[in-house]
Amino acid sequence: MNYKRTEIPQENIKKQLDICEDIKTKNAGESRFALVDTFGCQQNEEDSEKIRGYLAAMGYEMTGDEFRADIIVLNTCAVREHAEMRVFGNLGALTHTKKEKPSQIIAVCGCMVQQEHITEKIKKSFRQVDLVFGPDELWRFPELIQTIMTEKKRVFAPGSGDGCVPEGVPHLRSDKVKAWLSIMNVCNNFCTYCIVPYTRFRERSRHPEDILAEARGLVAEGYKDITLLGQNVNSYGRDLDCGVSFAQLIRQVNDIEGDFVIRFMTSHPKDATEELFAAMRDCEKCEKHLHLPLQSGSDRILKAMNRHYDSEKYLSLVDKVREYIPDVVLTTDIIVGFPGETDEDFDETIKLVERAKYDAMFTFIYSKREGTPAATMPDPFTREEKQVHFDRLIETQNKISEVKHRDYIGKTVRVLLDGVDREDGFLTARTIGGRLVRVMGDESMTGSFVNVKITDCNTWALRGDIV
Ligand code: 5AD
Ligand code: SF4
Repeated sequence: MNYKRTEIPQENIKKQLDICEDIKTKNAGESRFALVDTFGCQQNEEDSEKIRGYLAAMGYEMTGDEFRADIIVLNTCAVREHAEMRVFGNLGALTHTKKEKPSQIIAVCGCMVQQEHITEKIKKSFRQVDLVFGPDELWRFPELIQTIMTEKKRVFAPGSGDGCVPEGVPHLRSDKVKAWLSIMNVCNNFCTYCIVPYTRFRERSRHPEDILAEARGLVAEGYKDITLLGQNVNSYGRDLDCGVSFAQLIRQVNDIEGDFVIRFMTSHPKDATEELFAAMRDCEKCEKHLHLPLQSGSDRILKAMNRHYDSEKYLSLVDKVREYIPDVVLTTDIIVGFPGETDEDFDETIKLVERAKYDAMFTFIYSKREGTPAATMPDPFTREEKQVHFDRLIETQNKISEVKHRDYIGKTVRVLLDGVDREDGFLTARTIGGRLVRVMGDESMTGSFVNVKITDCNTWALRGDIV
């Protein structure tokens, strides 16, 4: 697949906003509702905020009730089969809502629909779906909705592969403290298990000045926690030749005046540099947290995964980042049960996990994705055998997390109060390293930085009191 980058002219986005205005005028005097349901990663959450931004501009109010909604959008993820099954389950259930409300428009978008066989399945077996559009078509969502409304026909726009870079699509953000800021789209790495490069085309970075303008706007609106998003942020800018690396981008965002935290994800180990660690150390607003997906501790499996590093290189990075920031919070992703992974391979993963001493870990059982190279590799082990490894890995990590969390007890740390746990009324907060702290306090305090003395912990969170 060739690299393609198509910057969408501003007048095209303006045209979409005019269509929103037209739809709003037609709907005037009537209450209209929309529901956007998101599966998968933060990148998808951010895309959903854009879809909601357009829907709000069309005059729709957001609802959680699928029977009330005039428009329903399912923003899907293709990374694991489980998420795909859930989408099909939800789509099946929507036959009932459409029966009760025949005018309801049902749309499906996101990574899943960029696989031809999925779009075909939706076309044939899910007749209640009116619209399918790929991530590259999101910028013209209003036009697609208008076509359905005026021409009363189903619309399928899974994506042209044009590598679109739209600027100026409005967001309706779901949070008042934390904001996602997408700095690039897609990834060029072709890890052999991963469907992402096959669904979202080639890596595309946004121009630094557009990112900085958005960051400034977020700070001015009062956001306190900005997460720079990309599948592989460390390769930011390489496709642009703009002379700004990811580390430099962090420094530039850090220069924006105001009290806020800069977070980022995800970093591929093959592209993590000392330049990044130095920026993390020097920038007082940048989180002291590195999410560095390992995937496997076995060199044989890492090779089969096409990860471009081995366990030695990975561990040298871990040592290096700790040289720069001794108390850095380190987290990772690990896939258990990659095709052909033996007990010996898995033991290597456990060994590395014990040596790296992560603060937290996201663990996944390998999910076969049609169209990826790993899908054709022999996979002789059963789900039950993989589950045994999976449980052992979690047990190993839980012990490490607990020890690391216990180290916080008695210490006073600065946190950002970022929300409320509706179940028990505790305020949620994050340290500069991104660890979750639960504190008693008044909801009106969310959005402020406070010092908290840590009093207790479990494997996944700290408990503290405001001092
Ligand atoms: N099966 C299981 N986990 C996967 N991931 C990506 N593709 C797969 C797959 N086919 C995991 C990786 C990645 C995280 C976002 O999802 O660990 O880092
Ligand atoms: Fe997928 Fe690998 Fe790219 Fe991550 S780095 S999105 S796992 S191909």
